[in-house]
Amino acid sequence: MKISVIGGGYVGLVSSICFAQLGHSVDLIEIEKDKCDAINAGRPPLYEAGLEDLLSIHAGRRLHAHAEYKNTKNSDLTFICVGTPQSSNGYPNLSPISSACKFLGKSLMDKENGDFHVVVVKSTVPPGTTEKLIMPTVLKYACRGTDEIGFAVNPEFLREGLAIYDFMNPDRIVIGSIEESVGDQVQAVYEGIKAPVVRTGLTTAEMIKYASNAFLAAKISYANEIGNICKMLGVNVYEVMHGVGLDSRIGLEFLKAGAGFGGSCFPKDVMALIALAKDLGEDPILLRSVIEVNERQPIKIVDLLSKRIGDLRGKRIAIIGLSFKENTDDVRESRSITVIKELKRRGATIAAYDPKAISSMKRILPDVDYYSSAAEALAHADACLVMTEWPEFSLLDKEFNLMNRRVIIEARRILCCSDCEGICW
Ligand code: UDX
Repeated sequence: MKISVIGGGYVGLVSSICFAQLGHSVDLIEIEKDKCDAINAGRPPLYEAGLEDLLSIHAGRRLHAHAEYKNTKNSDLTFICVGTPQSSNGYPNLSPISSACKFLGKSLMDKENGDFHVVVVKSTVPPGTTEKLIMPTVLKYACRGTDEIGFAVNPEFLREGLAIYDFMNPDRIVIGSIEESVGDQVQAVYEGIKAPVVRTGLTTAEMIKYASNAFLAAKISYANEIGNICKMLGVNVYEVMHGVGLDSRIGLEFLKAGAGFGGSCFPKDVMALIALAKDLGEDPILLRSVIEVNERQPIKIVDLLSKRIGDLRGKRIAIIGLSFKENTDDVRESRSITVIKELKRRGATIAAYDPKAISSMKRILPDVDYYSSAAEALAHADACLVMTEWPEFSLLDKEFNLMNRRVIIEARRILCCSDCEGICW
């Protein structure tokens, strides 16, 4: 099939490459010219395991990136994958989506009359957005009716760091549409992927994405709250959650306690659901607590550190791990940001290391000493916090001898040395 994808971020780029891998011909619209050129040259503009290999196969062959929208009119389906960053009222900022819809509509105006086009919303948008904003905007600028342009919602559940695997091996494919035939066309794109397909209406599909992310975030906050109690009891929350998660009604996934969840999805999506619930006259007690627990966790690890080494003023603290989780260079909503800010507020100096995320963190926190290895960051530190589960951190041990004192606290269970302690264990 001929597919166009709008947006070359995580979701758009991974989807484009995977659609090409499934045999489709893909035009990726990315308005940032530098990113566009990098993609066409086979260089992914973001770090994601396996992406470069696949891109080098498809760039310039089945996959072409463009900085303008005109190629959308030559495709059968357009997937909207632009970002929906959080705005100050809790809701996502939908202006990038509105603008994409205008340009898409203008391009579809030039499509042959009678040539049906399907617009698929992959971006995470609040329930109701496709019907109330996306459909009317595209139709208005295309000067067409729903007999010529159909709409579907197809949320993406991929995780950064595992994006290609998740795309190719989803637990389910959710497709929301008004007309069955439009949903059928979207389903045909995924031929070759084995997964249950859930067919719904537009708003239901949008809500499935929010409800899934909020549930996963709630699992993590639950594990963190139990972890905080376990810490006081002197029991290991990972052992507890193993015993809990083996109950098939609960499941073992997303019960790892730590400094809380970050990333571009969970914090933003839970906040959006809270804002939506409030607007609808509901008080989302549980969702509010999910966020509250999450905001408290990074402060807890700093408090624990203070308990171990006392006043933090003038102390040198090594922060090992900056990305919001392992195997990515993404630092959006990373717990390390909150921890570093809190440590600095209490007068500590920071020596930081991450295998991939130093340059992205430098843009947010330029006033920190960054090092190119864990050993260098640890040298002469008064204590260290290991914030993420990068596999290479599991091998750290003798490097801690370079510290003034071996005071090692981990936010995720990753280390193998016996003299470390965890935030919740
Ligand atoms: C998430 C969803 O998993 C995905 O379905 C959705 O499409 C986008 O958001 P992602 O943000 O890439 O994906 O990362 P994920 O692996 O889900 O982790 C999110 C955060 O939760 C990370 O900060 C991670 O460290 C944290 N986490 C995850 C925990 O603290 N404990 C866990 O048990 C699992």
